[in-house]
Amino acid sequence: MSGAARCNAALYVNRCIFHRYNTEVLIDMDGSHPSSGSPNQNPNSESDGKSNANANTPSEGDGSLEILARRAQESLSIGNGKRHAFWETQPVGQFKDLGDTSFPEGPIELPTPISEVKQEPYNLPNLYEWTTCDIDSEETCAEVYNLLTNNYVEDDENMFRFNYSKEFLRWALRPPGYFRNWHIGVRVKASKKLVAFISGVPARIRVRDEVVKMAEVNFLCVHKKLRSKRLAPVMIKEVTRRVHLENMWQAAYTAGVVLPTPVTTCQYWHRSLNPKKLIDVQFSRLGARMTMSRTIKLYKLPGSTATPGMRKMELRDVPAVTRLLRNYFSQFVVAPDFDEDDVEHWLLPTENVVDSFLVESPETHEITDFCSFYTLPSTILGNPNYSTLKAAYSFYNVSTRTPLLQLINDMLILAKQRDYDVFNALDVMHNETFLKELKFGLGDGQLHYYLYNYRVRHALKPSELGLVLL
Ligand SMILES: CC(C)(COP(=O)(O)OP(=O)(O)OC[C@H]1O[C@@H](n2cnc3c(N)ncnc32)[C@H](O)[C@@H]1OP(=O)(O)O)[C@@H](O)C(=O)NCCC(=O)NCCS
Repeated sequence: MSGAARCNAALYVNRCIFHRYNTEVLIDMDGSHPSSGSPNQNPNSESDGKSNANANTPSEGDGSLEILARRAQESLSIGNGKRHAFWETQPVGQFKDLGDTSFPEGPIELPTPISEVKQEPYNLPNLYEWTTCDIDSEETCAEVYNLLTNNYVEDDENMFRFNYSKEFLRWALRPPGYFRNWHIGVRVKASKKLVAFISGVPARIRVRDEVVKMAEVNFLCVHKKLRSKRLAPVMIKEVTRRVHLENMWQAAYTAGVVLPTPVTTCQYWHRSLNPKKLIDVQFSRLGARMTMSRTIKLYKLPGSTATPGMRKMELRDVPAVTRLLRNYFSQFVVAPDFDEDDVEHWLLPTENVVDSFLVESPETHEITDFCSFYTLPSTILGNPNYSTLKAAYSFYNVSTRTPLLQLINDMLILAKQRDYDVFNALDVMHNETFLKELKFGLGDGQLHYYLYNYRVRHALKPSELGLVLL
């Protein structure tokens, strides 16, 4: 095991920004060319663990400058004044140390002997108690699902809320080697109602040359009626404690909020597949000088894929896909260290959870290319005509023979055939090379990636990151 993996201290909380955008992407006046700017509004901005998006290249008089100004403000405010009573006590990069390159890269605190890790759970306010959520139980899974469905990440205007399905939760929470007691709930003692949740799952993540055993922390959620009572820090400490008890001392997480201190900050991009619905539900809006029919035409995709030998991934493909991915990941500063079990779990297609496709050379039967997305719908709040937005999220893609642009365009076609309304992608890995060309619009939220108890000397560019958290 690497030195880093032996080192100390715990975690963090993941994901999250509700992202939404404005479709009027990158089109010429005639609506045919995907590369000039057009206006957009800013339907939601990141705050409190949300993301959102707003398509476009900035242009004057359309709100884009506001977005830019806000982003500049956000960047400037990193490390500038805002106190973090909890995070300042944790082994994470602190804003005051930004720019100080004298600290060594790697673990911030060394591990302690397991016997010295606090053996009892942290105290909760009197009315509440800890519960381990057995996600195998249909009843408990439904409780977690309902808590998240009603209280998880929303956009700033409260029009959309992430709606992770039960199958998705079972998948996300039970990867190889998972720990049941890292699925942590808080109940009201009297009624037993589940009012908060946080989870960790184990992962091996490589940072430069070190493969580090980490927890990926996600699904932090406190019931709306219990917010701002400092429950989140207790939950974070409790998941950290349980991770330590398994002799793991690092974690990876994402959030829409700025905390000390992001390893990198990414943006979501959105590719309309069903522009009429997206506009009807105000996920995006009609571009200036655009009609609905021109917009529909702009985003229309061919009925079938272009790449010969493209097919769904199957169980027999696991070894080849693992080789392809491991080779691909080696070029990023931070990336998963997947073995065949991980690939089978995370990438073998599971209906309405994860879809994966590959290209098998018709001549040699070699597996040359791979692409995948996961399914995360959002509830559309208070709309009389629509209740759900069906979104696909780009996961891991590798092109060695098929041009990446063609591979992703084929994946868009496959998503469209499966009735997705929008295809989302972060600007991580090589994604930047296809986003504009394939008519993705820039979202207006930012997703910050964090490592707990692991310092990186400089912030990374999104393209140096090979990790997608759910
Ligand atoms: C995120 C959430 C659990 C925070 O709970 P809360 O009641 O708002 O905040 P609390 O009073 O309990 O705790 C505040 C502390 O938690 C931190 N915090 C808030 N959101 C956080 C996040 N997503 N990840 C890590 N820490 C977070 C705050 O920064 C603050 O610590 P600080 O003083 O060091 O800055 C709650 O707002 C929620 O459930 N939101 C909807 C779902 C969501 O956004 N989940 C997070 C997805 S990343």
